Amino acid sequence: MSKIVFKLIEKEKVRQVTGLEMIPSENYVSSGVLSALGSILTNKYSEGFPGRRYYGGNEVIDEIENYAADLAKKLFEVPVALVQPYSGSPANMATTMAVCQPGETVLGLALSSGGHLTHGANLSFSSIFYKAVNYTVGPDWKINFEEMKELALKHKPKLIWAGTTAYPYKLDYKKFREVADLVGAYLVADISHISGLIVGGVHSSPVNDVDIITTTTHKTLRGPRGAMIMVTDRGLKKDPDLRSKLEKAIIPGLQGGPHNHQTAAIAIALEEAATPKFKKYAEQVVKNAKVLAEELGTKSENHLILLSLTDYGYGMGYQGQYALETAGITVNKNTIPGEPVSPFYPSGIRLGTPALTSRGMKEADMIKISKWIKLALEETRGNETPKEKELRAEHIKNFKREIVKNKNLQRIRNEVKKFASKFPVPGI
Ligand SMILES: Cc1ncc(COP(=O)(O)O)c(C=O)c1O
Repeated sequence: MSKIVFKLIEKEKVRQVTGLEMIPSENYVSSGVLSALGSILTNKYSEGFPGRRYYGGNEVIDEIENYAADLAKKLFEVPVALVQPYSGSPANMATTMAVCQPGETVLGLALSSGGHLTHGANLSFSSIFYKAVNYTVGPDWKINFEEMKELALKHKPKLIWAGTTAYPYKLDYKKFREVADLVGAYLVADISHISGLIVGGVHSSPVNDVDIITTTTHKTLRGPRGAMIMVTDRGLKKDPDLRSKLEKAIIPGLQGGPHNHQTAAIAIALEEAATPKFKKYAEQVVKNAKVLAEELGTKSENHLILLSLTDYGYGMGYQGQYALETAGITVNKNTIPGEPVSPFYPSGIRLGTPALTSRGMKEADMIKISKWIKLALEETRGNETPKEKELRAEHIKNFKREIVKNKNLQRIRNEVKKFASKFPVPGI
């Protein structure tokens, strides 16, 4: 056994136990999920699909993959579930490959408005190999469906993405459907962030309104890193070949052998997500986010909060992230809609409640945490990002070096440590 690696794993364990993990796309998996991930299933090659493998010796793997897919079909009420995508981005790439020829048009929410890279952002495959068009959010930070409709009519996309990665509001899938119907596009819901909320009944399901659903399995769904692609009844009606098109896009299109240990872990996460306990968990995630958002002076209808730091100064995302990190609170810097500075020096942070809720934290705990967040952010004042672009990198480097010495943040760090350590971490 490698002493070096296991020592580092122990070190990371301490970080996860003593800090407050508030990146909204992260969570803690159960010991069942961890055991499957660390199992001998990783030893096996299984290119192909159950009953149709390229290699021998896959009779048990077939049972595992069929079991995982059946659980997904039941939970999300879909006729087809593919559980092999390695992660969310490859799932979205396979989906795009399945329904678009290179050069055809995809329409997705802009990165700067809370969309995901794979939905048509610069530098992503989705704009390199396809023609990407982006809709945005309006001044109220909500999706501008009028603009989306105009863009759809103008560019006639083959695929429309309905999915978000930094968006604190609920999605109305019917509105996306209306636009997709105008141009005959495939409508794909990427529910990566909210799949656990959908299963838990605290966000509406896209199943009746979209053709395909993609999701990561490691966010609110609380499974291993991985992803699934599902086809709805509506999708099969539109295109009876969707299943085989998606399968072909996964392999040989994009991947080789599936990660069988990951598939087994997905099955365990889906078993857990089907329980009444998980429903309660999802409800609590949303309740916690609502309280936390209100305490921070904003709103959330799901599991995440997008917080503008413009009140603290110019381009304060980095500074906010680093100050909070020093205090033991992990969040990520994020652009805000209409970003006034730059995507590289954004003006906000993104935070959420899925991981804290997995540790059993409730509304009163959110109030306590919001106080620490506000106190920590106060420490960033006077450290604005320079207006001169060439000075910015050096400024942030200096800020990062100095902020770890801040006594007020160190005091909060100690309080956070004491507080967090009282809440057990699943799987640890
Ligand atoms: C909406 C959405 N789709 C796809 C992904 C990509 O997932 P992965 O990081 O597993 O590639 C993410 C990840 O943050 C996401 O938020």
